Amino acid sequence: MKIDTVVLLLCLSVTQAQGDLTGGPENDTKNSLGEPQTGGCVSDGAILTELRALRDMVVEQKDQLSVYKDQLSVTQRHVEEMRRDNAALGTRLSLSEHHVEELKAENEALEARLSIGERHVEELKAFDAALKARLSLIERHVEELKAENEALEARLSLSEHHVEELKAENEGRPKVAFYTALTNSGHVGPFNTETSLVYSKVFTNIGNAYSPVTGVFTAPVRGVYYIRFTALGYSSPRTVAGVTMFKNNLQIMHNGVYNTDGEHKFVVNAVTVELEQGDKIMMRLPSGYDLYDDISNYTTFSGFLLFPM
Ligand SMILES: *[C@@H]1O[C@H](CO)[C@@H](O)[C@H](O)[C@H]1NC(C)=O
Ligand SMILES: *[C@@H]1O[C@H](CO)[C@@H](O)[C@H](O)[C@H]1NC(C)=O
Repeated sequence: MKIDTVVLLLCLSVTQAQGDLTGGPENDTKNSLGEPQTGGCVSDGAILTELRALRDMVVEQKDQLSVYKDQLSVTQRHVEEMRRDNAALGTRLSLSEHHVEELKAENEALEARLSIGERHVEELKAFDAALKARLSLIERHVEELKAENEALEARLSLSEHHVEELKAENEGRPKVAFYTALTNSGHVGPFNTETSLVYSKVFTNIGNAYSPVTGVFTAPVRGVYYIRFTALGYSSPRTVAGVTMFKNNLQIMHNGVYNTDGEHKFVVNAVTVELEQGDKIMMRLPSGYDLYDDISNYTTFSGFLLFPM
């Protein structure tokens, strides 16, 4: 294009010089753009041809330019569209990034909760294990208690058995106990000879081993017996109160007390004595001794079987 213009300008300047000779520059100018003319620039036909070529080129280039323009505007439109798209995409991208950030935060929160949950699960597992251990301990204790219980039950049933045996034994054991007092009629004695005492007031006589007729206690079974007496002296002056205890014909005790002032004088004593079945215990008043008794039961004779043998 530039070269073409230069060529054109060169040609015009030649035409100008020719115009000065032939008639004026107007016609020359007009001619260079209008109808082909003979004479003028180097060769008018060549120039015209050149010009035509140039014009065609310009026209062609105009068309081309317009095509370019159209293409450019299309391209610009596309660029605009792309810009818009780009902006939209940017907006969406920033939105997505925002979402990603939110999701990250959410994820972190979930991870934190998950780790707390996992810790809780661990804690619960440990707790569970501890409970299981305690449960097994308790179960062992229960087993121990059961065994203990069974042992106790066995011992209890043995004890009950023994109790039954003892009951039976007890029921089979002879029951012997007596309690008597001498008389309600005051003074007894003194006599010139030793005299058997017959305690006439019989208050207790379990087993009927004491005879209120003879005043003798006869052991119904072999065993150990506890025999006891009280004796009161209530006479004056210078008497002796007392008794002698016999086992069969054997004296086993003598207790007495002088009475000089006429006040109550007591003699009391007891023996624990082993008796064969049929052995007899009796109380005698030595000669010269005296006793006293009335409704107060001062002078008594009593005893019981401690245990059989
Ligand atoms: C141009 O040239 C023609 C003849 O070639 C002539 O008749 C005409 O008058 C000229 N015009 C001018 C303006 O010189
Ligand atoms: C003597 O003993 C009998 C029988 O236990 C009793 O009833 C009575 O009241 C007794 N006498 C006195 C004065 O305690």
